[in-house]
Amino acid sequence: MARILTGIQASGRPHLGNILGAILPAVRVSQKPENESFLFIADLHAMTTIKSAEVMQANTRAVAAAWLAFGFDSDKNYFYRQSRLAGFHTELCWYLSCLTPYPMLANAHSFKDKSDRLADVNAGLFTYPVLQAADIVLYQAHYVPVGKDQKQHLEMSKDMAEVFNRTYGETFVLPEPVIDEQVMTIPGIDGNKMSKSYQNYIDIFLPEKELYSVIKKIQTDSTPLEEPKNPDTCLVFKLYSLIADESQINALKERYLAGNFGYGHAKKELLDLILTRFAEERKVFNHYFEHPTALEEKLQQGEAKARLIAEETMHLVRQRIGFIS
Ligand code: TRP
Repeated sequence: MARILTGIQASGRPHLGNILGAILPAVRVSQKPENESFLFIADLHAMTTIKSAEVMQANTRAVAAAWLAFGFDSDKNYFYRQSRLAGFHTELCWYLSCLTPYPMLANAHSFKDKSDRLADVNAGLFTYPVLQAADIVLYQAHYVPVGKDQKQHLEMSKDMAEVFNRTYGETFVLPEPVIDEQVMTIPGIDGNKMSKSYQNYIDIFLPEKELYSVIKKIQTDSTPLEEPKNPDTCLVFKLYSLIADESQINALKERYLAGNFGYGHAKKELLDLILTRFAEERKVFNHYFEHPTALEEKLQQGEAKARLIAEETMHLVRQRIGFIS
């Protein structure tokens, strides 16, 4: 069995870009019988930036509900909050930090980018890559799917695992990053990459009316209603094609080319598609949102399972270091 592990920084409700770009591909990988997926909410890492208990709670709940809604099977796999296993994660973080040369951390992009305003940098941000390495080797993960921006962190994780093994003897699996170089960028409603920070995202979990008003804001050109329209340059069409099946895409294309079909019509088609294609996911998401105890139960089950693996690794690690015989 290959162990695939990834941490998610919970920054709010996942939007369509997160869903198509990260959640759906990861769920597909986790469904393969030969894989065992470890998926956790990196809330200890999130603390480097989030300092509000309400925001922390809300983000965690939204992210967990979304992953479950999109079919992440937490019985077959591992699904947990890093903070609920904080003892193991931070203990291992300390051990690894004692083997990590200062300049390695000072060279991390995530830190260096901010080194011109060091007063704003907390120590958590500095040791961030060590905690990340601990997250990974704690569960003896083989593969770590991440975005391009995490490449350096993954190199550092592997380095730390290697140094530990060299110092104390074979202990950790050396993790390999899995970086999809050609991930499609999902455009937002203004045509730029869909992102929370650009405020151009589509939240598919919104109630129908609010969802429609977001879709209505998708930028289009001023081709008059009667004239044929170019599907290849239209954002509405692009977003529609990312979700629809082949025959739906062809049908919409014909209507674009035929004329007498306005962008308002296209937007209504996109709304209907989202509502039908994601009907089940919307239902499950809202169920978990309205029943936090059901979500809590799932997470606690995942945490109990993850704890067994973490305990096993840490027993070995403490032996290797000489804390226990
Ligand atoms: N740093 C990652 C990010 O910002 C999140 C993360 C924390 C992570 N721990 C991890 C990713 C372990 C992969 C493995 O996206």
